[in-house]
Amino acid sequence: MNKIRYYIETYGCQMNVADSELVSGILKQAGYEQAESLDDADIIIFNTCSVRQHAEDRVIGRISNEISRKAKKPGLKIGVIGCVAQRLSGELKKINKKIDFVVGVDQYKHLPRIINLLDFYGVNVATDVNNSEVYHNMMPVRQGDLNAFVTIMRGCDNFCTYCIVPHVRGRERSRPLDEILKEVEEAGNDGFKDVTLLGQNVNSYNWKELDFPQLLEQVDSLETIKRVRFVTSHPKDLSDSLVKYMAKLDKVCEHIHLPMQSGNTDILTRMNRGYTSEHYMGLIKKLKAAMPDISITTDVIVGFPGETEEQFMDTYNMMKEIEFDFAFMFKYSPREGTAAAEYEDQVDEKVRLERLSRLIDMQNEITNKKYKEQIGKIKEIYVEQVSKKNPEELAGKSRDFKITVFKADKSLIGKFVKVKITEATGWTLKGELIEEID
Ligand code: 5AD
Ligand code: SF4
Repeated sequence: MNKIRYYIETYGCQMNVADSELVSGILKQAGYEQAESLDDADIIIFNTCSVRQHAEDRVIGRISNEISRKAKKPGLKIGVIGCVAQRLSGELKKINKKIDFVVGVDQYKHLPRIINLLDFYGVNVATDVNNSEVYHNMMPVRQGDLNAFVTIMRGCDNFCTYCIVPHVRGRERSRPLDEILKEVEEAGNDGFKDVTLLGQNVNSYNWKELDFPQLLEQVDSLETIKRVRFVTSHPKDLSDSLVKYMAKLDKVCEHIHLPMQSGNTDILTRMNRGYTSEHYMGLIKKLKAAMPDISITTDVIVGFPGETEEQFMDTYNMMKEIEFDFAFMFKYSPREGTAAAEYEDQVDEKVRLERLSRLIDMQNEITNKKYKEQIGKIKEIYVEQVSKKNPEELAGKSRDFKITVFKADKSLIGKFVKVKITEATGWTLKGELIEEID
């Protein structure tokens, strides 16, 4: 008998990418088979993001489009998992009656049973948050290129006032050390040499008194991998010890993603971020002093409720001073159920858009400049794939997280090479192969 085939379409952050791989592992173990495409699937699962209204609207639109497939393929099941499933729960059924199942972030273990019983019980909704689920001993089925995402903790306790994540993903909990090490080791054995440790706030990792720098040290010592990264760091919890360990540990890459959110302390306070702009600036200085070539990326929100032009300019000027290698810049999006959505001094949409566009223009220049500074350098590149733009070129990443393309034979995919940078176009470096490292 043919196996039932599933296809997962993933939206949102790396945590969702990792969760889709976890769900894939759960379904495979239960005897399902991964479909090559949507057309081949008997079950389509949307793993959704609700961080901003736009992300949520987009995925709900996608689901409505794909639901029409059910008319052509009787028996096709369509399910929704992830943050929108968690947030809207049974409401999703009202938005679209043809959705077969809605399963939240702490209920993935039950997916095989839920899917099996669909024809008996009809629509199923399982969105309880139990605040302790860490999916013990469940191995993901990795997708895509040669980077592995390994979840080290789930949930978030910070309640930044704009953010929906703690409301949908529940309280913070750390995965046991041995399970993390086993997963990283196996990823390395399967050829994934660049590993990213994932959590909403990795700096508060704590398992039996073992903290994040100690976890990094253990991961760094594993023979099967070559590079270690981590996201996301919270500026309020980034310790001196982490800076020291980052500089000391060979496999830990010279890159940090450190969301700044705003350059104005009053706005940071209203965001409940737990740090001042001076504290943030101090961290940048410490990181640069310990690792002069470190690449720093960030997230910023403009038009947070009550933000004045002067306060926005504090963000603008601080970003100009720091010179981030790259920044994800967002206009504030009110999320129902969060504290800031209730604030009365919401900033006009036009003003939010205009500030965002000014900030993006300024940061683009800095990013260009930062990338141009790489010309002439020899960088270690992890070769990940054939370039999507030019089949004669290979693409990979440097330790400082810059995509680099160069002409070489496909046999180098999965290897580490030295490349001399000759050009910088937009957010991609171009170079010439010097030699294979191993
Ligand atoms: N509006 C705009 N941006 C947001 N982010 C989180 N919540 C919101 C919101 N309500 C941004 C933050 C966070 C990134 C993942 O998304 O900058 O770091
Ligand atoms: Fe959201 Fe703040 Fe938690 Fe990040 S730290 S997930 S921004 S609440």
